Amino acid sequence: MRVSDAIVGRQSIRAFQSDRMVNDEQIEQLLNIAGRAPSGSNIQPWHVYVVRGESKERITEACSARYLSGDEGAYEYAYYPREWRQPYIGRRRQTGFGLYGLLGIDRKDDAAVKRYRVQNYQFFGAPVGLFFTIDRDMEQGSWLDYGMFLQSFMLAAREMEMETCAQAAFCPYHDSVMPILAAPGEQMLVCGMSLGYADPDALVNTYRTDRLDAREFMTVLQ
Ligand SMILES: Cc1cc2nc3c(=O)[nH]c(=O)nc-3n(C[C@H](O)[C@H](O)[C@H](O)COP(=O)(O)O)c2cc1C
Repeated sequence: MRVSDAIVGRQSIRAFQSDRMVNDEQIEQLLNIAGRAPSGSNIQPWHVYVVRGESKERITEACSARYLSGDEGAYEYAYYPREWRQPYIGRRRQTGFGLYGLLGIDRKDDAAVKRYRVQNYQFFGAPVGLFFTIDRDMEQGSWLDYGMFLQSFMLAAREMEMETCAQAAFCPYHDSVMPILAAPGEQMLVCGMSLGYADPDALVNTYRTDRLDAREFMTVLQ
């Protein structure tokens, strides 16, 4: 697979074949590849927890119950701007409305939205979940490094015919997730991720998001 094909063809997958397993050797191989991502002074600020079986079920149960009860939890770090403004709010809406439109979900129908969103906590049917953490005393530069690591992981997965969905949806429930991971208190949850083989028949997986043309965000100076 060409690097450009891996990048352009990657999309967030939100329905997986739950019976097609991913083994520990494959995950280790992916993490060894992703671990080649660059980081300032090569400090490699990542910790990764792989969940399957009972630990995965416990996370599903805890987060689903909280989400469905209306408990919004709380992020430990600000993922999104505190004040939404254009053009970002517009792009966010376009992405969300596009997905709901495809799935025939009326965004004012609370129950339907919840039925869809709770699937985040079921890892969209994926056989494996991953949780990425960082030491709290790391600074913004290490978060920059982390993004490179995450994208490297997602691209390497594609070469093995696997797909992913990065998930910040777990972050508000870090206080439920981290104890199940037995992660030490000095670590903070960066995000979760579903990993597995895409369900080729799922409508949700046909959703493709737009991107800006480079001319809309580049400035060339002479
Ligand atoms: C760090 C991160 C967290 C994300 N969290 C979620 C999530 O919790 N649930 C979800 O369905 N998608 C999540 N996404 C997927 C984004 O919505 C998606 O990447 C974006 O809409 C672009 O679509 P694409 O990945 O299909 O290209 C996340 C993406 C990133 C990078």
